[in-house]
Amino acid sequence: MELKKWNLHVPWFLLLLSSTHSDVGKKTSFQNHFGSPLQNQFNTKNNTRVIAQKGGLAILPCVVKINSPATVSWIRRKDFQLLTLGLSTHSSDKRFLVEHTRHMGHWSLRIKAVREEDRGFYECQLSIYPTQSIFIELKIVEAAAEISSAPELHIDEASTLRLECKLKRATENPSFVFW
Ligand SMILES: *[C@@H]1O[C@H](CO)[C@@H](O)[C@H](O)[C@H]1NC(C)=O
Repeated sequence: MELKKWNLHVPWFLLLLSSTHSDVGKKTSFQNHFGSPLQNQFNTKNNTRVIAQKGGLAILPCVVKINSPATVSWIRRKDFQLLTLGLSTHSSDKRFLVEHTRHMGHWSLRIKAVREEDRGFYECQLSIYPTQSIFIELKIVEAAAEISSAPELHIDEASTLRLECKLKRATENPSFVFW
């Protein structure tokens, strides 16, 4: 009986000792209420940068470990606006949608018809205690078409002219190209 009691107490004592020790040196980013570090629940790299073209579709990734039962919410950092909560869009701006793949842990934020002012940081927050978040930076670029060797081209009579049109900074394939 006495031995059994000791076996129960020793691990707790050691746990307390080790947690006070680690608090002195470096602070672990996530700790549960027992003071032991909590695992990173994300499979998406923190501070990932996404580039989207103006007017296009931006997909901000957030993959959580499949065993996470917590709710995922997306928050726009510039004004701390809650955009989505679970599967529902919280914002009145219907350009924001969450794209969820069950059993895969995917919780991407889709922003349709992106604008210049959509640039900045977005937070994918997991409702566990304490909360865990990753940040995704959205960069907006403007796609442009450019003709090589323009504006002036000199060619000999009866020779073939080859004009090349280059699409610059495009993040999506154009639906059409006009000449
Ligand atoms: C991601 O980075 C931010 C700082 O940029 C930090 O506050 C946050 O805890 C990090 N998230 C994870 C899961 O490491």
